[in-house]
Amino acid sequence: GKTRGVESLEKYMHGVDTDLDKNDCSICCEKLSEASSYGEGKAEAHAVVELNRCGHQFHKLCLLEMYHSIHKGGGLQCPSCKTIYGEKTGNCPPGYMQWRLVQDLTLPGYEGCGAILVSYHISPGIQGPDHPSPGHSFTARGFPRQGYLPDCDKGRKVLKLLMEAFQRRLMFTIATSHTTGEANTVTWNEIHHKTEPYGNHSGHGYPDPQYLDNVLMELAAHGVTEDCLR
Ligand code: APR
Ligand code: ZN
Ligand code: ZN
Repeated sequence: GKTRGVESLEKYMHGVDTDLDKNDCSICCEKLSEASSYGEGKAEAHAVVELNRCGHQFHKLCLLEMYHSIHKGGGLQCPSCKTIYGEKTGNCPPGYMQWRLVQDLTLPGYEGCGAILVSYHISPGIQGPDHPSPGHSFTARGFPRQGYLPDCDKGRKVLKLLMEAFQRRLMFTIATSHTTGEANTVTWNEIHHKTEPYGNHSGHGYPDPQYLDNVLMELAAHGVTEDCLR
C-alpha cells in the first residue's frame, strides 16, 4: 500500500534546510524555498529532501508524488540523474521467456559462433493496478517476439541479464506503441532487441558492432548489471 511504500523510501533520502533558495525542484519547477506544487494545505509542503547517493534535492512531496504516479514497483529512480535506489521492478504483464541455441545461424559480425534465439510470450488481458488504465483491457501484438544474440561470452552474459530483467518485469510495459500508435498495448520497454538476424531492414538487426554494449547500458539504466548475477 501507499504508506508502506513511503516508509521504505525514507531510507534513500534525508531532510535538508539550508540554501534552499539557490535551486529549483526539477519535478514541479518551483524554488525549493517555496512550497511544493503538490503540497497545498499539507504540513509537509515545504519539506525538502536530498537523495543519499546522488545528492539531488527535491520537495519531499514532489518526489513522493512522482514515485506514486509513475511507480512501477520496487526502487526509486532519481528523476535528474536516473540513479536507482533499491531494486527497480517493472509492470510487464504475465508471460514467459524462452531461449534456445541456433548453432547453424551466423549473425553478421559474429562469424565465429552460432546464435541464441530469445522469445517472449505475452497474451492480452486486463490491466492491473500498476498499469495506465486499471480494469481496462490491453492488447499484445506480434507475440511471441524474438531477439537474436551471438552465442559468445558477451552474448551469453547479455542473455543472463535479459532473463533477470524479464523476472523483474522490466522487459515490456503497457503503453501507446510508437510504431503503431495503438494505446493500451504491450510495448518494448527501453531494452533493445535484435528482432532481425540479418538484413537489418528495421534498424533492429545485425550487423551492429555496438549492440551488446548498448544493451548492457540499457540494462544498467534499469539497475540490471553483472552484480545481479552473483
Ligand atoms: N524491433 C525491435 N525493437 C523495436 C522495433 C523492432 N522492429 N521497433 C521499435 N522498437 C523499439 C523502439 O526502438 C523503442 O525503443 O521498441 C521500443 C518501443 O517502441 P514502440 O514502437 O512503442 O514498441 P512496440 O509497439 O512494442 O514495438 C514495435 O517491435 O518487435 C516489434 O512486433 C513489434 O513491430 C513491433 C515493433
Ligand atoms: Zn517540487
Ligand atoms: Zn540524482
